[in-house]
Amino acid sequence: MSEELVFPPSAEAVARTRTTAEQYETLYARSISDPDGFWREQAGRLDWMVPFSTVKDTSFAYPDVSIRWFEDGELNVSANCIDRHLATRGDQTALIFEPDDPRAEARHITYRQLYDEVCRLANVLKARGVRKGDRVTIYLPMIPQAAYAMLACARIGAVHSVVFAGFSPEALAGRINDCGSRLVITADEGRRGGKAVALKANVDKALESCPDVETVLVVSNTGSEVAMVAGRDLWLDEEAAGVAGECPPEPMNAEDPLFILYTSGSTGSPKGVLHTTGGYLVWVSLTHELVFDYREGEVYWCTADVGWVTGHSYIVYGPLANGAVSLMFEGVPNWPDPSRFWQVVERHKVNIFYTAPTAIRALMGAGAEWTQKNDLSSLRLLGSVGEPINPEAWLWYHRHVGRERCEIVDTWWQTETGGFMITPLPGAIATKPGSATKPFFGVKPVVLSPEGRLQEQVKAEGVLAIADSWPGQMRTVYGDHQRFVDTYFATYKGYYFTGDGCRRDADGYYWITGRVDDVLNVSGHRLGTAEVESALVAHPKVAEAAVVGYPHGIKGQGIYCYVTLMAGEEYTDALKDELRAWVRKEIGPIATPDLIQWAPGLPKTRSGKIMRRILRKVAENDFSNLGDTSTLADPAVVTNLVDNRLNR
Ligand code: WTA
Repeated sequence: MSEELVFPPSAEAVARTRTTAEQYETLYARSISDPDGFWREQAGRLDWMVPFSTVKDTSFAYPDVSIRWFEDGELNVSANCIDRHLATRGDQTALIFEPDDPRAEARHITYRQLYDEVCRLANVLKARGVRKGDRVTIYLPMIPQAAYAMLACARIGAVHSVVFAGFSPEALAGRINDCGSRLVITADEGRRGGKAVALKANVDKALESCPDVETVLVVSNTGSEVAMVAGRDLWLDEEAAGVAGECPPEPMNAEDPLFILYTSGSTGSPKGVLHTTGGYLVWVSLTHELVFDYREGEVYWCTADVGWVTGHSYIVYGPLANGAVSLMFEGVPNWPDPSRFWQVVERHKVNIFYTAPTAIRALMGAGAEWTQKNDLSSLRLLGSVGEPINPEAWLWYHRHVGRERCEIVDTWWQTETGGFMITPLPGAIATKPGSATKPFFGVKPVVLSPEGRLQEQVKAEGVLAIADSWPGQMRTVYGDHQRFVDTYFATYKGYYFTGDGCRRDADGYYWITGRVDDVLNVSGHRLGTAEVESALVAHPKVAEAAVVGYPHGIKGQGIYCYVTLMAGEEYTDALKDELRAWVRKEIGPIATPDLIQWAPGLPKTRSGKIMRRILRKVAENDFSNLGDTSTLADPAVVTNLVDNRLNR
């Protein structure tokens, strides 16, 4: 039914858009036929210290994949996000900070204040021996210091690795060691939904297994007492007071690394996605401006956490490069009650609101009456990101939040892509609930059959791949270029493989159907089944575990675990609780298993490979097509699994 629902752009959106429908078609065609000319012009939106002469030098040819954009240009990201705005909008708000507690004062940080904070923090980093190219791990809650820390690294050419503050000490330690950070920035505590999160204590625990960390800078956030290790731990405020308020931005090559962000894949431990300087900033600033049709002075709010790529690209770098007013919210949608988002919209007269389907579905569940208590007339545009948005949630968002006046942009992209890839342009592209619509400039999506045959007809279904490079693309996996090549370019030669399935309708609209690999998307958080499995088997009583996703009404996907215990162990409910707590401790609360099914046997082929397809079907409650089970070593195992399934 939803494919027939079409929402043409409103008259207001058409009247104000920078890109009309015709311009979109013309510009898109040019961006594909003449990428050099197109991106040479677009890159002029940034301030370059040394202009580039070449634009695009990229190859997807396996195994010699190499991606370079603007490779002889030099610039500094923090100068582009701050310094160049000072003359015209130094006193304008750069960041609005809305604290977790609704009774606490919100704070406005101007571009000039941002300059001062970032320069000081940059000088503190320098004083602690951080140099260009060094990695710095940032483990902070949603407070302005997170943005300061990222920009301070960018200012001196250090490479930041932000670790989501919901990750456990174990997960944090793995990420610190993988990139070899010697300095960590954290806070005493975080605050979320009225509860304190013991960040400094987590860092202390993590550092027991990170021998190379020399310095921990601690933000005094809640003011609670925390242990400080002499010679290692320093209060950021005290250090910042003792350094100069000016720090010249380091000239960076366009291809110098800007940040590493760990993300989950099908196999193994999370990989360090590496983004570089020039192409990334061109990409996030252009997409932010056009897709939100952002105008001077508008208040823009992205509800993501800075620990994920959405926070990097669309709270910090894209908006600030554009001189925008970007709101940072420390709290959660449903505390103290499910109208919190709308209170914040009213309080700060938010014009553009960008969130995830999982939040929309949770608020939908709480009832539309919670959207009625506040004045939402400031809203002009709504965005969605992180997972496919089901048409029901799209329509609810449109009706109750957008009051049927706001445009909705459903933006498909990934940590790896740096920014938006498939998305409507408001005022130019009609929307269909559930479809991310059309490719952004320079993006050449293709649909392949699972075997890799290019689907040339418009109406097609298969896996989504991208045929050529775009400036915001990740450049490598930190420390493991071969893994980058093998993960994204080996399956379908000549293409970047996204890991997503998709459908293209007769109008050329893309409908993302979700991951086709072993990556889960739980409440918009990306998680590898392999990570949860290795956490489970690390428990002394667990012999084997297999983890799959299943459809979940609010989270999108839930985590379904099949667990085999060591011989002689008892299968009890108490042990299930213990395993749930164990996984939380190993990875973090986002990885908490939803369902654990005891599986004295797992379906395996005669060569010992677990047949995940069958486990997925059982978890999805779909037995119509279990496929051929005769190749299993012990077909009776399946009957047992089906009889004991949990998701009835
Ligand atoms: C999914 C988040 C459908 C997709 C920016 C992708 C989406 C993964 C959408 C990347 C969307 C993200 N519609 N699916 N609008 N946005 N996804 O790296 O499966 O955390 O591959 O980046 O989220 O998740 P990641």
